[in-house]
Amino acid sequence: MSVNKDIKRVTTHVLQEMKSRGEKITMLTAYDFSMARILDEAGVDILLVGDSASNVMAGHETTLPITLDQMIYHGASVVRAVRRALIVVDLPFGSYQGNSRTALDSTIRIMKEAGAHAIKLEGGAEVQESIKRILSAGVPVMGHLGLTPQSIYKFGTYTVRAKEEAEAEKLLEDAELLQELGCFALVLEKIPAKLAKKVAEKLWIPVIGIGAGGGVDGQVLVTHDMLGITKDFQPRFLRRYLDLFDAIKGAVNQYIEDVRSRDFPNKKEQY
Ligand code: KIV
Repeated sequence: MSVNKDIKRVTTHVLQEMKSRGEKITMLTAYDFSMARILDEAGVDILLVGDSASNVMAGHETTLPITLDQMIYHGASVVRAVRRALIVVDLPFGSYQGNSRTALDSTIRIMKEAGAHAIKLEGGAEVQESIKRILSAGVPVMGHLGLTPQSIYKFGTYTVRAKEEAEAEKLLEDAELLQELGCFALVLEKIPAKLAKKVAEKLWIPVIGIGAGGGVDGQVLVTHDMLGITKDFQPRFLRRYLDLFDAIKGAVNQYIEDVRSRDFPNKKEQY
């Protein structure tokens, strides 16, 4: 496996160069110190402290309940573990949509208290004032279009977005706007591969896809999904690299059996 060891720290500039060279960018979610250390040592370029923590860490049905304080807690845990990857923290629902001053205040807390390198937020034209204000404070912003889980109650389902021409056109316009405003990268979630490729070819900033096909500049997955820790979530775009749910369950079953049978601890495992 080839991780570029010459790169000390992944920056937004490094990601831009990767796109120019046609090198694919890798991104995974991280919410805690131990997992972030493993992912960083493996050589992932971007670690996203996603608001999907609301689902996979806290067990909520949607990403809406997670708070700014909770995102800061997860962000700070990841920052303490990471030496190489760029760390992007999601602005949670309610922390940036109201007005640009609120958006900036939330961002400043994430940058100061978690030590993040950049923030991500969902939406296009409707959040442009917030994006401008955050960028004017010198904080890199990653956009997120397509399926935007914070708007789930507006859309009603988690199905593929921008299949109709009008929605695809709006997405293309929003993507160009985000680039014009100064976003350093863009996530496209669950849209047709053809449209995602078109966006990636049109933009000079990196476009990272999840369920958006192979024609984009990089890929992101929720780590708990790709490692098979979550079991029920099985969209077509997800490739599972491990079945950790069953592996962990098997190990715990063995531990229970060993304790009950008095096999654990043995003579060497005590003082
Ligand atoms: O919160 C998250 O995990 C995300 C990814 C799905 C891109 O936003």
